Amino acid sequence: MTLPNYAVFGHPISHSLSPRIHTAFGKQAGVALRYVAIDAPTEAFAAALARFAEEAGRGANITQPLKQDAFRTSTQLSDFARRAGAVNTLMRVGDAWHGDNTDGPGLIRDLTGRHSLDLRARRSLLLGAGGAARAAAHALLDAGIGELVIVNRSPERADALADSIGLPKRVHTRYWNDLANLGSFDLIVNATSAGVARETLQLPFGLVAPRALCYDLSYGAAAFGFVAWARAAGAGKALDGLGMLVEQAAESFAIWHGARPDTDAVYAELRGELPLLATD
Ligand code: ATR
Repeated sequence: MTLPNYAVFGHPISHSLSPRIHTAFGKQAGVALRYVAIDAPTEAFAAALARFAEEAGRGANITQPLKQDAFRTSTQLSDFARRAGAVNTLMRVGDAWHGDNTDGPGLIRDLTGRHSLDLRARRSLLLGAGGAARAAAHALLDAGIGELVIVNRSPERADALADSIGLPKRVHTRYWNDLANLGSFDLIVNATSAGVARETLQLPFGLVAPRALCYDLSYGAAAFGFVAWARAAGAGKALDGLGMLVEQAAESFAIWHGARPDTDAVYAELRGELPLLATD
């Protein structure tokens, strides 16, 4: 018997935790499935996805750098995927791919569910304006944060994101060089890929309000620098994006299999292997 076929596409992809997470969810839910990682640089994605469809591929997660390609490949889009301009979850329906984006809901679920945080009315700073920042901005605004200030190394990308959101009273952009003059924030989200590239952000401590929540969308060693900075600045909570990773996987699992798995056991197991800081 061939098992229902699922995959994560990306480049590079060999370190992806998604096969492990989805296999664990499947076991827990009693759903037999095959879930593999498929390495596909941008130019090879269309052919790799077509081959996967021919092999009866039913659903796929999409990660860097393919989320916008998956957006363009999708015949139908969820409202959130359309707003985020990116797709991280594909579902085969007939001969077509339906595109969704579970990154934003996964982020909110981690913050408000696992960590029981109230996001409403928080004055918020978003660092970065790429694909990850885009999904986070929409999700946080939907969740009721207060003012959102977007700061990106290249200011025109921050402006483009703010313009596409279209809430000029709530969403503002500022220059990276001005970070020391923006006052303090109750929520700071690092959506840059600096940590993944092992680069260190130079951020003023004054950005962090008392009891602020600081969150890096990346996890493991890529988030060490930001989490260490947030702790040193006196943040109430400093987190990496491991919980978001597990929650977005659970949202994708629910789209494909109709039931949302419990995420606590998988998160606890991965957290044990991936401390928040090298010294933890
Ligand atoms: P992703 O899909 O992960 O968001 P991306 O679209 O390539 O990836 O976006 C990367 C983000 O990290 C961008 O906002 C980028 O800033 P630029 O738009 O100016 O390139 C930001 N970034 C990457 N390295 C950075 C660094 N060393 N300092 C500040 N921002 C950085």
